Amino acid sequence: MGEVDVSGSKNAALPVIAASLLNKGTVELKNCPQIRDVTVMLEILKHLGAKVYDNQQSLFLDTSEITSCVIPENLMHEMRSSVMIAGALIGRKGCAKFTYPGGCEIGSRPINMHLKAFQKMGVEINETNDKIECKVQKLIGTKITLSFPSVGATENMMLASVLAEGETVIHNAAREPEIVCLQNFLNSMGGRICGAGSHTIFVQGVKVLHDTSFEVIPDRIEAGTYLCMVAGCGGEVKLNHVNSNHLQEVIRQLKKMNCQIGVSPKHIFLKSNANLYPTIIKTMPYPGFPTDMQSQFVTALSIAKGTSYVMENIFENRYKYVKELMKMGAQIVVQGKTAMVRGVKKLKNAQIEAKDLRGGAALVEAALMAEGISTITGIPYIERGYENLTKKLTILGAKIKEE
Ligand code: EPZ
Repeated sequence: MGEVDVSGSKNAALPVIAASLLNKGTVELKNCPQIRDVTVMLEILKHLGAKVYDNQQSLFLDTSEITSCVIPENLMHEMRSSVMIAGALIGRKGCAKFTYPGGCEIGSRPINMHLKAFQKMGVEINETNDKIECKVQKLIGTKITLSFPSVGATENMMLASVLAEGETVIHNAAREPEIVCLQNFLNSMGGRICGAGSHTIFVQGVKVLHDTSFEVIPDRIEAGTYLCMVAGCGGEVKLNHVNSNHLQEVIRQLKKMNCQIGVSPKHIFLKSNANLYPTIIKTMPYPGFPTDMQSQFVTALSIAKGTSYVMENIFENRYKYVKELMKMGAQIVVQGKTAMVRGVKKLKNAQIEAKDLRGGAALVEAALMAEGISTITGIPYIERGYENLTKKLTILGAKIKEE
């Protein structure tokens, strides 16, 4: 039995840090996770002229002087979600220059919806090779219907419209908790946004924003990852500082898989004897089952008593970790979007390689579930999104050595 304090949400902190560019002053952010992706986002802000102070409890972002519109190419490629800075830069300065973030380990990750939305607000976009230049005299509010509830496109629209003239309405908006968090942050700076968490978001443009102090929501994917690890290994865990409301579909599936779960608003208790039942999972936009939990569930299900089916409907290339699991004796067949997972008695230790963030976390889970000692390479992928992973797992009884 061990307790884990869940950190602040990576996928909430990143858009909130980008949004701080819209304020000519200083904001205080609490509960930001100390992870690589946040460090990269802060590097970009400093490159643009911001000053960053970190006193371990809070981040202070002084964005009084933003002297550039150019997002550095190397940082764009290091972290695709830096495209969210574009919306904030356009909102703040009427310009943004960046390179196509490019695909990554889980898919091509286009930004067509982001660019189409900017154009509808009057932004002029010039593309040469993989460079994109956006400029606009005055952002005008507009009505947009997203062809897919894209998290990033919804967030970029919110960032570009909060200081625009008039009202912007985003139909078929993403409904993730991180979108609600961004709305709450922007409103705490004087923005006028409502509807986040529903299919339609309304943004009333304002002239100026002001300083604020704001706490980032807990990381629901980090929380779900620890629940999956204990489910697969057997044992007990109590998660603190979590928002259990954000994990309803994850909890429902874990109960179906024979885990005992107790829930209060800020805590989740899980007990597992690792005698897991198979299940069927389809990843969907929130509040459906989160794609960021797909690899961790496939790993736990690799030792279930029967065959499970997992369908990945969000990204086109999110099964890279399966080859590594099969080195450990997992019996998984991937056909198109669907992974068929035939449960085996036990996984075997192996030398395995992480190739993306969540797939890497799933391999750590597999190594903990397996007999013997496994070696995992590609750890920097995992450090992008999990704060103090080794320390937190050691509290839960894991034996981990980092080299
Ligand atoms: C966010 O990525 C998250 N990242 C992802 O988490 C998460 O998996 C994803 O949302 C879905 O929930 C951050 O918040 C930083 P999308 P994002 O736009 O915004 C396609 C993690 O592990 N699409 O909702 O990039 C896209 O290719 C990361 O923490 C377009 O076609 O996701 C994908 O297939 C991984 N055109 C689908 O939509 C566009 O213009 C969903 O993408 C934009 C997206």
